[in-house]
Amino acid sequence: MDNRAIGVFDSGLGGLTAVKELMRLLPEESIVYFGDTGRVPYGTKSNETIIRYTMGDIRFLNTFDLKAIIIACGTASAIALPAVRGKCSVPLVGVAAPAARAAVRATKNKKIGIIGTPGTIRSGAYETLIHKQDASIATISQACALFVPLVEAGWTENEVARLTAQQYLQPMIEAGVDTLIMGCTHYPLLVRTIARVMGDRVTLIDPGAETAREVKDSLQKNDMLSAGAEKEQYRFFSSDCVDGFTELGSRFLERPIAGHVQRIDIDQYTPKEETQR
Ligand code: DGL
Repeated sequence: MDNRAIGVFDSGLGGLTAVKELMRLLPEESIVYFGDTGRVPYGTKSNETIIRYTMGDIRFLNTFDLKAIIIACGTASAIALPAVRGKCSVPLVGVAAPAARAAVRATKNKKIGIIGTPGTIRSGAYETLIHKQDASIATISQACALFVPLVEAGWTENEVARLTAQQYLQPMIEAGVDTLIMGCTHYPLLVRTIARVMGDRVTLIDPGAETAREVKDSLQKNDMLSAGAEKEQYRFFSSDCVDGFTELGSRFLERPIAGHVQRIDIDQYTPKEETQR
């Protein structure tokens, strides 16, 4: 038994897709969530900046007594996890590996599509993880830079979203993938639009949900489940305005979070940028 909370962070609100699944699967667990809404998006930034921001996010979460930290950001998992893994005192779990494992299990025709932010696609992390398990699987990837702003604007099911998805996903359809990794934690919010475009024969993989399932298994196996929630079971922190986070966050989680969101100064925890020589 371990009553410590689980820490979760993302560049913004997308990581709440993992939190929602954690809340459903593990209703007794306490969660501390940080959304770096003041610095989102990470997906268009340099690797150095993404690593620096990720280190700051972990340092902030490490001010709590946690049993694990989930990097619920596809970009930070793909780019920063290898660099920060040894620098954290509690287990760090990224969303990329669980999603890659689920995709390899799901594919029948050995053709997997990967969509993500420009940073995630540039990293090739999903391809590496898939090919470590099965080198014969064909992959096709596509950066979908406009998906995150569509989600943040709440435009997830309108005609603009459908046309944007059609444009990005057409090469996946032509390649005949039977499995698509939604390699960014914002994208499951577009799942209905993506499913409409891809058709019902394609399995869609949600990295946050897959990670939540693996975390549940691992806590169970290691006898680390919580016996009961803390007084304030769910705490949310954001690096920008609380009102916007509360409104969108309540919509994402389909439960009210007003009064449980605090603003923090993430710069205090973030290593300084190294000066260019
Ligand atoms: N949630 C981020 C991810 O999964 C997307 C937003 C961003 O670019 O920071 O990659």
